[in-house]
Amino acid sequence: MSATANPQPLAAGRSPGLAGNPRIPGDKSISHRALIFGALAVGETTVQGLLEAGDVLNTAAVLRELGADITRDPDGTWRIHGVGVGGFAEPSNVLDHGNSGTGVRLMMGAIATSPVCATFTGDASLRRRPMGRVLEPLSRFGAETMGRKGGLLPLTLKGAANPLPVTYELPVPSAQVKSAVLLAGLNAPGRTTVIEPEATRDHTERMLRHFGATVSIADVGPQGRAISLDGQPMLTGREVVVPPDPSSAAFPLVAALLVPGSRLSLSRVMLNPTRAGLLAVLTRMGARISRSNERIESGETVADLEVTAGALRATTTEPEIAPSMIDEFPILAVAAAFAEGTTRMNGLAELRVKESDRLAAVAAGLGEIGITCRMGEDWLEVDGRGADGVPGGGRVTTHMDHRIAMSFLVAGLAARQAVTVDDTAFISTSFPTFIPMMEKLGAIFKRPNA
Ligand code: S3P
Repeated sequence: MSATANPQPLAAGRSPGLAGNPRIPGDKSISHRALIFGALAVGETTVQGLLEAGDVLNTAAVLRELGADITRDPDGTWRIHGVGVGGFAEPSNVLDHGNSGTGVRLMMGAIATSPVCATFTGDASLRRRPMGRVLEPLSRFGAETMGRKGGLLPLTLKGAANPLPVTYELPVPSAQVKSAVLLAGLNAPGRTTVIEPEATRDHTERMLRHFGATVSIADVGPQGRAISLDGQPMLTGREVVVPPDPSSAAFPLVAALLVPGSRLSLSRVMLNPTRAGLLAVLTRMGARISRSNERIESGETVADLEVTAGALRATTTEPEIAPSMIDEFPILAVAAAFAEGTTRMNGLAELRVKESDRLAAVAAGLGEIGITCRMGEDWLEVDGRGADGVPGGGRVTTHMDHRIAMSFLVAGLAARQAVTVDDTAFISTSFPTFIPMMEKLGAIFKRPNA
C-alpha cells in the first residue's frame, strides 16, 4: 500500500540506448548548508545552482520563520540576508521539514545554542526516523527537548541560554550528527570538537571555513579525525556555487551502464572523496566510465564523465567505503542485479534509518523484479542475473523514499519486462526533473491505466 493520499505510480519499460548530456540538479547536502550558513552570516550570501526541490525548499521556509530574509531572483540566483550567529528569532509556528532528515537534524543543531524555543515536525517518513542521535549531543550544550518516546518527531527544542562547548565522539558514522554538533558549537563560547571514527561527507567543515569560521582538523590515529571549531565567530555573507549532486547523477549513470547501446556524458560530477564511493565500486565492477577535465570549482573537485553500457561483474563492498556512498546502495543493488555473480555489500546498518528502511525496501524490490537476494542486519547479497537476465515485471513499494523509486525505475529500463513503482511523488524531494530528464535521454515510462 502507498503512504500518500494521491499516489503516482509509474512503469519503466525496456528502452533503447540512452544518449545525451543531462543537467543534474544541485547537490542536496550543499544546498541545505548554503541556506543555513547564509542565514547565520552577516550580510548577503548569493547561491547559484541551489537544488530547488522539496527538501531544500522546506529548509528555506524554516529559516524564514527564524528571521532570515531569503529570496530568489528570476535568473535562479538565491539571496540570503542572515541574522548572524545566535541571532535566530523565535518562530511563531511549527517548523515542518517534510521528508528531510538532513534539514531537521541540521536545524535542530543550529538553534540548540540560541535562546529560542521551536517545535519540529515532518511527514510520516520523517516522523518515524530517530532523532535521539542528535538530541543526545545537543543536550550536552544545554539544550532541552521534549518529544515522543524514542526521540521521534514532533518534538520541541529549547535552545540553551548559556551554552557550553562540547567534545563529542560520533557513535554512528553520520554527517548529519557531525553537522548538528558543529552548528550548535557555532554559538557556544570556546572550542567544540567532533571526533569521527570514519570519514563522512565534509561539506559542513568546508562551508564553515568558506564563511569565515576557524576550523582545525587533526588525525587522531585509530580514533579517526578530530574536527574543532572556535565558537562565536562572525560569519560573513559569501558567494556559493552548488555543484551537481553526485547522488542524483548516480541514477542516469547506472541507467547508462545497464541499458544496451547507451552512451551518456555527465558534466561537473563532484569527486569529493567523501562522496565518491559509488564510482570506485562501479569501476571495480568493470563499468566503462572515463573521466576528463578534472578541475576545482568552488572548492570541490569536479570532472566530466563519459559512460558507456557494458557487462558488469559482481563485487564485495567493505564497511569502510559505506559512508562515502551511503545514499547510493539502492542503485548499486540494481546494478548488482544486472552483474554476473553475487555481490555482497557490508556495513549497511545506517540504511535501516533512511527515508525508509532501505535495506528491507531494496530486498523486497529485488524480489519483486525476480532477483534472489539475502540480507542481514547490516549486509545484503544480490545474485546477479547478467546484462540481459533480470526478469522485471513486479510492482515495487517505495515507502515514501525517492531513492527507492528512482532505483527501480532504472531497473525497469533494462529488465525483460516493465517494472512498476507504486508512487513517484517523493522523487520531487531531491530530483524534481528526474522523469522528464530520463525521458529526454530515451527512457520509456508509462503511467499505469493511462
Ligand atoms: C547527509 C548525510 C547522510 C545522507 C543524507 C545527507 C548530509 O545522512 O544519507 O542524504 O547532508 O549530511 P547521515 O548523516 O544520516 O548518514
